[in-house]
Amino acid sequence: MRRISPRSLLLSIGISLILFVIIFIVNHRSIDVEELPIKCNCPTVPAQTLPTINNTISITNATKIEAVTIQKVNIPTIPPTTTLPPLPPCKPVEKNSSVQRAIIIYYPHHQSEYFFPEVRWLYRSWAEMLRSQPPTWRTDFLIFTYNFSAEFRSLGCINRIRENKQEPSVCRIFLYVPIQFRTPNITKNNFENAFSDAKKIAKLYNDSVEQMVTIPKINDPETFDLKRSESLYNNLRTYGYIDSINTIYEGFSTFKMYDFVLRTDIDVFIYRHFGTYIPQNCTLITGGGGYGTNFNRRKLKRIAHDMGFSHVEMSGMGSTWYGSARDGFLVANQTLHGMLWLAEYEFAQPERESKLGTLMWPEWHYGVLLLYGQHLAINHLVGQNQIRIIIGHNLLDQSSTDPSPQYVQQGIRLNLHCWHTDNRFSKFAFKMGHYNKTELVKYQNDTTAQAYAMRMALESKYMTLEQLADLIRNISITK
Ligand SMILES: *[C@@H]1O[C@H](CO)[C@@H](O)[C@H](O)[C@H]1NC(C)=O
Ligand SMILES: *[C@@H]1O[C@H](CO)[C@@H](O)[C@H](O)[C@H]1NC(C)=O
Ligand SMILES: *[C@@H]1O[C@H](CO)[C@@H](O)[C@H](O)[C@H]1NC(C)=O
Ligand SMILES: *[C@@H]1O[C@H](CO)[C@@H](O)[C@H](O)[C@H]1NC(C)=O
Ligand SMILES: *[C@@H]1O[C@H](CO)[C@@H](O)[C@H](O)[C@H]1NC(C)=O
Ligand SMILES: *[C@@H]1O[C@H](CO)[C@@H](O)[C@H](O)[C@H]1NC(C)=O
Ligand SMILES: *[C@@H]1O[C@H](CO)[C@@H](O)[C@H](O)[C@H]1NC(C)=O
Ligand SMILES: *[C@@H]1O[C@H](CO)[C@@H](O)[C@H](O)[C@H]1NC(C)=O
Ligand SMILES: *[C@@H]1O[C@H](CO)[C@@H](O)[C@H](O)[C@H]1NC(C)=O
Ligand SMILES: *[C@@H]1O[C@H](CO)[C@@H](O)[C@H](O)[C@H]1NC(C)=O
Ligand SMILES: *[C@@H]1O[C@H](CO)[C@@H](O)[C@H](O)[C@H]1NC(C)=O
Repeated sequence: MRRISPRSLLLSIGISLILFVIIFIVNHRSIDVEELPIKCNCPTVPAQTLPTINNTISITNATKIEAVTIQKVNIPTIPPTTTLPPLPPCKPVEKNSSVQRAIIIYYPHHQSEYFFPEVRWLYRSWAEMLRSQPPTWRTDFLIFTYNFSAEFRSLGCINRIRENKQEPSVCRIFLYVPIQFRTPNITKNNFENAFSDAKKIAKLYNDSVEQMVTIPKINDPETFDLKRSESLYNNLRTYGYIDSINTIYEGFSTFKMYDFVLRTDIDVFIYRHFGTYIPQNCTLITGGGGYGTNFNRRKLKRIAHDMGFSHVEMSGMGSTWYGSARDGFLVANQTLHGMLWLAEYEFAQPERESKLGTLMWPEWHYGVLLLYGQHLAINHLVGQNQIRIIIGHNLLDQSSTDPSPQYVQQGIRLNLHCWHTDNRFSKFAFKMGHYNKTELVKYQNDTTAQAYAMRMALESKYMTLEQLADLIRNISITK
């Protein structure tokens, strides 16, 4: 086992901090953010620790700014014709048909010590969900990562694209070159050497190297844009979440055959209700995201105008998406475009280098660049009649700490998302080994969200990878 590098530790702390501030803001309505029904027993922080923005910003020296040479930005012009194409026709997927779905994550193979426990519990909850899935449905677990390692082989994952609707639900690994690894020696000659390590490992396991599924597909102009790949490397390679969006763009060919995809972080539990629930009326459902203030809503609208993007005043979308594969692809594509624009033109270097910490949160904070980029993307796509969307405040990213049986019984909660909290279930306490078999017994007959998360996590910890794989095989024989 490798040790956690200081860098990945910092990254994890950073990510936790962001989640924390998001939750914090959700719980402090005084700052005019979207009200979200997320229940979270977060530690309370005195309100005065938040930066208060002074209205009286000195502008007496403002004229000086004009002396600075402003970099010329090519601003696309909005086409003068405002006649929109109609919304794409909606042919709803019938629940009684053979619904095909994928749960999709990006897994950073180089931070396995931190993230693999989360993969285990997500995998365990995927199995639990499959129990309530109708026999004609299939739900695969898709993992984009740079190494088809022994762990995923033990979990029964395969490196193959789904070929028909009958194959049982299975875990699939697709080899993907993360943005930060796209150094010149990896990208030269059309990524010629990008998969040489993977090929060595494939040979070791007698896999067919010819059939290996790898991303990016450099010859497919629909899903690979070399300029953008380079721009992502130059501007966003240190931004923690970039690959979780880029895989939904560059990896489209591996999941376009599914009726629905769930784009999710790893630190979630798929809840049983997901087994029988599909989005209605051709909508893309997002979770809720507490990043919106009057300040940044106005700012983002102004930026959308600069970009030549539509803006329909939608705000508060979270980064979990559940909808058609095509909708996910479109949102990912425009989110990448939005993130690059913001990083290049709307954040200064000290902000990009996190030198401001959370000083500017919640008004304008680089840590939530993904949510801002996605805000621009979704507003544009909705404004252009390309997608239909709803924010599923009571559907996605639900509490993993709620202790009341009513919470999970009365709602349609599709997944539980870990937040920064010490309350059970806390991913931090779990990873520090604070929960053990005692809890497993204690929560045995408990029907709360808290107990569900606790059981899934602890069971996945005490089961071997082979047992987990077995569990999926046993369930999917009948499902
Ligand atoms: C904001 O204004 C208050 C009162 O005018 C002042 O005490 C404080 O230093 C100001 N804060 C900043 C960051 O300028
Ligand atoms: C304006 O600039 C001058 C010279 O750079 C400086 O002495 C002064 O304090 C500035 N005024 C304000 C209000 O920032
Ligand atoms: C599914 O149900 C609808 C009515 O709700 C029916 O029209 C359709 O034929 C059914 N399809 C299948 C495959 O049974
Ligand atoms: C890739 O997986 C193989 C097989 O598990 C392992 O030996 C190797 O260390 C992994 N490489 C990296 C860079 O994680
Ligand atoms: C590619 O170059 C980077 C630094 O530019 C180096 O860290 C890495 O080991 C190289 N990889 C290969 C496969 O040569
Ligand atoms: C791969 O094939 C060789 C020769 O057929 C065999 O000896 C070896 O055990 C196989 N390895 C695995 C991991 O199946
Ligand atoms: C779907 O559309 C129908 C007809 O417009 C409407 O009655 C129904 O409430 C919609 N369902 C959802 C979940 O929005
Ligand atoms: C992807 O985004 C770019 C930038 O906004 C846009 O020009 C392009 O048409 C988009 N591709 C698709 C398939 O929507
Ligand atoms: C399990 O954790 C409890 C506290 O929750 C502790 O009292 C107990 O000693 C632990 N048991 C083992 C076997 O580590
Ligand atoms: C859970 O239910 C089983 C069967 O009803 C029972 O034997 C067991 O003692 C219960 N466990 C707890 C912790 O209540
Ligand atoms: C799967 O089924 C086999 C045969 O029925 C059984 O021996 C095994 O314990 C089951 N594994 C799991 C993890 O449920």
